[in-house]
Amino acid sequence: MVSEKLGAAEVTELLLTAEIYNKSEKLNEDDLPSRIRKHYFDPLVKGVKRPIYVTVADVQQIYGIDNVKSIVKGLPFVDLEEFGSQLRLTVFELGAKWLANQNELEKINSNPVLAFFYENYNSLNVSYEEAKKVNKPLSADREWINSKINELCNDAKQAEDLLKLVHIKAPEDVRDSLETLVLTGEQISEIKKIGKALENRSYLRDVGLYEIGKLLFVGPPGTGKTSAARAISKWFSLPLIEVRLSMITSQYLGETSKNIDKVFDLAKSLCPCILFVDEFDFVAKTRTADDHGALKRAVNTLLKAIDEISLVEDGVLLLAATNHPQLLDYAAWRRFDKILNFPLPDLEMRQTILEKVLSKIETNVNMHELAKLTEGYSGSDLRLIIREGVLNALLEDRRKIDQDDLLRSIQDFGRRVSDYRRSFAA
Ligand SMILES: Nc1ncnc2c1ncn2[C@@H]1O[C@H](COP(=O)(O)OP(=O)(O)OP(=O)(O)O)[C@@H](O)[C@H]1O
Ligand SMILES: [Mg+2]
Repeated sequence: MVSEKLGAAEVTELLLTAEIYNKSEKLNEDDLPSRIRKHYFDPLVKGVKRPIYVTVADVQQIYGIDNVKSIVKGLPFVDLEEFGSQLRLTVFELGAKWLANQNELEKINSNPVLAFFYENYNSLNVSYEEAKKVNKPLSADREWINSKINELCNDAKQAEDLLKLVHIKAPEDVRDSLETLVLTGEQISEIKKIGKALENRSYLRDVGLYEIGKLLFVGPPGTGKTSAARAISKWFSLPLIEVRLSMITSQYLGETSKNIDKVFDLAKSLCPCILFVDEFDFVAKTRTADDHGALKRAVNTLLKAIDEISLVEDGVLLLAATNHPQLLDYAAWRRFDKILNFPLPDLEMRQTILEKVLSKIETNVNMHELAKLTEGYSGSDLRLIIREGVLNALLEDRRKIDQDDLLRSIQDFGRRVSDYRRSFAA
C-alpha cells in the first residue's frame, strides 16, 4: 500500500493533470502518462474525452491507494463531494504550489501534462520535451490498438479471421528490447536512420523521396532478426503487426486475399506502425510450387500490397526477415530499399552477448575464452549454452556458474550440432 505522504502526491498529480489537460487544447492523449491515459481511455472515441473527472475510485484504481479519503483530509486544496465521491481542486494554484514543494521532480518530469505547466514555473528544472521523450505515446497502449481492430472489423468473427493471419503486439507488450541485443555498427546506424525517417516523414514527402522504409533482414538462423524487429517496435513505440505467411495456406484460402488487404488497411489505420513479414522466403516457396492457384494469388496480393504501402505516405514501416536469401528472386528483392545483414557474431560480439545474458547471474567465468571457443555460434546458440550451464548447475543445487559448467555445455552443444549434420549427410 502507498503511504499517506506518497498517496497525497499521487492524488494531487492526478487532479492537476486532469485540470491542466481539460483546459489546454495544446495537449493531447500522447501527453498523458500511460497509466492515467489507460484508465480514462474511451474505445468509442479511441482516446481520452475531455473533461476528465477524478473520483475516489479512479485514484484507487490508477495508483492502488485504498485510504484516499483520509489522504484527502490532509490536503486543504482538495474538496471531496460526498455524493458521487468526486474530487476537485478548490484552489488550483495552491495544489500546484504544494506539489512543486514536495520534491517530486521525477513525477513531474515523467508526466508531460505536468511538465507543460511547470516548465515555466518558478525555477523548477522541468522540460516538457524531455518528459515527452520518456512518456509512452497512445500508440503504445494495447487498449488503443484493440479499439482500432474493432473499428476495422464489422464483427467478432471478422476480427477472429484477421487475427489468424496476423499477430498484433502493442509496444508495451513486447519483451525483446534493443538494450539486450548486441548489434553490428550497420544495424545500429540503420535503426537510427529509421528513427530519423519517422520523424521527418513530411520532409521526405515534400522532397519526393519515397524509397524509404522497406527493410529486409537477412542472416542465418538465430542471429536476432525476429528479436530486432520486435525490439524496434518497442524502441519507437510503434504497434507491431506480424504477418504469419504460413497461415496463408490455411483452409480459408478463398478469403485470404481479402484478409491480406484488410491487414494492410489495419496497418494504415494504426500508423505509424511496423508491418513485419517474418520468414519472407515463404513467398518464394509458393511461387515455385505449381499447384495451389489460390495460394499464388494470395502471395501476389501480398506482394502487390507491399508495393503500394509506404512509410513516407502511410506511416507503415515494412520489415521482413529471411534466412534463405538464395530462395528469393529479383522480383522479391527489388521490393526492399535496404538489405540489412544479420551475420553470425564475431569474437567481440560473442563476448558481449555472453556478458549480457550472464549479467544477472552469479558467475566465475572467463568470457573472452568462451567467446574464442564459440566461433560460428549464433546469438541463439550462445543463449542455449548458458541455459544448459544454468540448468546443470541447478541440478547440483548451485546458482553460481563457473567456467567448467559452460565449457561442458559448449562441448555437448558441439556434439549435438555434429550429430545433426551427420544425420543429414547420411
Ligand atoms: N546479436 C544478438 N544479441 C543478443 N541476443 C541475440 C542475438 N542474436 C540472437 N539473439 C538471441 O537469440 C534468440 C533467437 O533470436 P531470433 O529469434 O531473433 O533469431 P532469428 O534471426 O529471427 O532466427 P530465425 O532465422 O531462425 O528466425 C533470441 O532470444 C535473441 O535475443
Ligand atoms: Mg526469426
